Amino acid sequence: MIVGPKHAYPPPGNGHAFYESDQSKELVLKYADHLNIAVLPIEAMQYVPDKQRFMPVSKIREQNLEGVEYTDAQLRKDLALGEAPPDWFSYPEVVRELRRVYPPRSKQGLTLFFTGFSGSGKSTLAKIIYAKLVEAGGRPVSLLDGDIVRQHLSSELGFSKEHRDLNIRRIGFVASEITKNGGIAICAPIAPYHSTRRAVREMVEEQGTFVEIYVATPLEVCEARDRKGLYAKARQGLIPEFTGISDPYEVPEAPELRIDTSQMSPMEAVQEIYLYLLKEGYLDGGGLNKSR
Ligand code: ADX
Repeated sequence: MIVGPKHAYPPPGNGHAFYESDQSKELVLKYADHLNIAVLPIEAMQYVPDKQRFMPVSKIREQNLEGVEYTDAQLRKDLALGEAPPDWFSYPEVVRELRRVYPPRSKQGLTLFFTGFSGSGKSTLAKIIYAKLVEAGGRPVSLLDGDIVRQHLSSELGFSKEHRDLNIRRIGFVASEITKNGGIAICAPIAPYHSTRRAVREMVEEQGTFVEIYVATPLEVCEARDRKGLYAKARQGLIPEFTGISDPYEVPEAPELRIDTSQMSPMEAVQEIYLYLLKEGYLDGGGLNKSR
């Protein structure tokens, strides 16, 4: 039986290992006679660039050499960003298989989920980013704007909490299917309830990435714009359960992005979103150059 330095350890919580290194080895050695198992303790090894080979940590220390480590977390990060693991880490054939099974973020499906008041600028931003992403190429892009969804997918629904939830869950389902198949879904409903947004996030994150963009334009600004004349009607009591006037909007607690369109132009806002996607590795670097 081979027992390594971190044998059968639970994953570290808060970045701290649960046991000291070698603790399981000591334990199994202590009971080796009782178990009647011959144990082969294996010392931790590290790669030594100077020698171009792996060596036991004790030898590295003895000889005053320097060992390097490459953790699972680093491997995951490199694969997500499409970067190459160090060549001493594995064989090219193995890395190729890993890349196939864990494609980089820029090749995985993605949902951009805008949320905010009516008139906050969600649709405007969604349409511009849609055009930019289509132009950048690489993945198919679908726009699920609030009003369009209400026309086609949720035409029988009203604005009670139950109906809004149903509407958002339908959007979430479509977005998760698009994400599963490697596309980009752009959603732009009001989505006023925290728990429903969370449910959609969970649904999508099973298939790929979910980016929540809170369009935090203040209600006064949305009302002053009143593009559709709905705020005026809501104030007069002609539209019941109107978000922000007579119905709640729960502010997102931890959106990936927060954008206030009263503080910047739509192009600036979209640039911010685009740069975020690029920085996090969700788009190919080439995409930015092409679309400039
Ligand atoms: S959500 O709450 O279910 O996410 P959704 O984004 O689909 O709402 O629809 C919002 C749009 O419906 C608004 O932009 C507005 O044009 C229209 N609307 C009609 N009645 C209401 C209402 N009571 N509250 C909010 N929006 C309404």
